[in-house]
Amino acid sequence: MSFQTDFHHVYQPGPAAGRPLLLLHGTGGNEHDLLDLAHTVAPGRTVISPRGKVLEHGMPRFFKRLAEGVFDEQDLRARTDELAAFVKGITAHHKLAAPIALGFSNGANIAAALLTLHPEVLGGAILLRAMAPLKDMPAFKLPQTPVLLVSGKQDMMIPFAQAQRLAASLTAAGAALTHETLPAGHGLTQTDLGLMSRFLAAQE
Ligand code: MLT
Repeated sequence: MSFQTDFHHVYQPGPAAGRPLLLLHGTGGNEHDLLDLAHTVAPGRTVISPRGKVLEHGMPRFFKRLAEGVFDEQDLRARTDELAAFVKGITAHHKLAAPIALGFSNGANIAAALLTLHPEVLGGAILLRAMAPLKDMPAFKLPQTPVLLVSGKQDMMIPFAQAQRLAASLTAAGAALTHETLPAGHGLTQTDLGLMSRFLAAQE
């Protein structure tokens, strides 16, 4: 029986062992966006891919923003709680381990919020072009949780200082963080794919 939820989502069980991937798309994407990428970097892993419920001029997102890079933190907190409940529900339903988030841009930012506000929900995370999701990052604990943060030095959407703030919070939380900074913009590159594949190959 499929899991009942008001999130549009794709659930694809895969033959590969290990934690499932939780795919979190960027602004204007949907639950199908990252499927090919996931199958490229982690063939055969089970994937869970929800669609963000907020619409900005018709474009799905995971939470509201007031301007580019300025988040509606009340909405962000409520949406993060809702996404955490979805992840707990669907993993319990299918008897899966806590997933590894694979988020891009807005999806990476809500993945960072999940790590911050619901650290028990994820078993690891790949954060592609992410920033600190909250102005005041609370203290939280992520002992040895593997996290790959990949930033673009020329990213016009994510100020590098904001990526560094996120990296500092994750390190302070005790995460096993790898922060890679590429000579790239907001878009993904082949180098991102190589980093993701290697990171995922090392995860259970
Ligand atoms: C966000 O709103 O999460 C960031 O500005 C990235 C994006 O444009 O989605």
